[in-house]
Amino acid sequence: MFQHIDYYAGDPILGLMDKFTADARPTKVNLGIGIYYDDAGQLPVLDCVKTAEQRIASPISPRPYLPMAGLLGHRQGCQRLLFGQEAKVIQDNRVATIATIGGSGALKVGAELIHRWFPHAKCYVSDPTWSNHIAIFEGCGIEVGSYPYYDPANHSIRFEEMIGFIETLNKHDVLILHPCCHNPTGMDLTHEQWDQVLQVVQQRELIAFMDIAYQGFGEDMDNDAYAIRKAAQMGLALFVSNSFSKNLSLYGERVGGLSILCPDADQAERVFGQMNYIVRRIYTSPPSHGGHVVDLVMNDAALYEQWVKEVYVMRDRIRSMRSELRARLEASLPNHDFSYLTTQKGMFSFTGLATEQLERLQSEFGLYMVMNSRVCMAGLNSANIDYVAEAMATVLKG
Ligand code: LMR
Repeated sequence: MFQHIDYYAGDPILGLMDKFTADARPTKVNLGIGIYYDDAGQLPVLDCVKTAEQRIASPISPRPYLPMAGLLGHRQGCQRLLFGQEAKVIQDNRVATIATIGGSGALKVGAELIHRWFPHAKCYVSDPTWSNHIAIFEGCGIEVGSYPYYDPANHSIRFEEMIGFIETLNKHDVLILHPCCHNPTGMDLTHEQWDQVLQVVQQRELIAFMDIAYQGFGEDMDNDAYAIRKAAQMGLALFVSNSFSKNLSLYGERVGGLSILCPDADQAERVFGQMNYIVRRIYTSPPSHGGHVVDLVMNDAALYEQWVKEVYVMRDRIRSMRSELRARLEASLPNHDFSYLTTQKGMFSFTGLATEQLERLQSEFGLYMVMNSRVCMAGLNSANIDYVAEAMATVLKG
């Protein structure tokens, strides 16, 4: 019956986690998957989450289905976080938002909507991008291409080429953009560069689909949403997928959101209806526990304030790991340029290490990075940083 079914080659990021778990060496270090660990190497439970969970009714309380779109407080929390606390587009009911099964679920629902209502649209991702962007859009039957983004030789953005390329796209083609903490390179556009990109989006009537999974880990909550708010100010229609996996440290709860900014309230109502219909046809409604935590943290002023502080603690620890790794590598290899480690933002750095070097790091040192050379800086800590720096310096020396 199933012999015609292909074997699955495995996911380039999640597969690495399995390999890491199977490695018996006590010195192994996981710098693969985008998960924030604290300086003790532990996955934190944020204090704001602990308080929210204490307030949620006891575990034996009844658990009905949530609405297809999730909890209202979760949805409104996403809107304020993305578009600003007092955003006019929210007051004008122009944003259709649903709570989703993580950022991936948001991308899936958005891609389904595009496939159904913009059947000729092609989708373009940055070169390189998060591998699941391609998988999710292709999985919906959408053709996926790429736009120039990163120059690994100079650790810089190929901005002129990027603009030149998107100027050639057709009306309603979809551009997947990372508003902050670009995954996998950590190289973000400046505000001026965002302004230029959004002008082209407007002129060519493209669909901007912004995927924000690391809000607060780059600059701060507001600056990380610059591109989203600027697009809203310019009157663009816009898709935004957001994830709370990292900034609420709620990976396994699968909490995120999909917001679609529409030209007016009537279109937002139509779009919201179709988002609900897509959810019903895939999974009916989002999970309840994480939704209640998001609802509480986003809507209680004290918890929200505490949350933002906790996000900045994570951000600052990552920044200090960046500087420390850079200093150690510069000391070992004074002729190499490691400045990219502190220029790049968010959880990831793109090291440009070759496949053989990455394989050697795994086999000889038990050091796991994604095979495109992405390293998760949030896996570094004061106990492993010397070891990691030494291992990297060793393979770089050849
Ligand atoms: C990552 O990029 O490592 C994370 O977003 C986790 C994932 O789902 O790939």
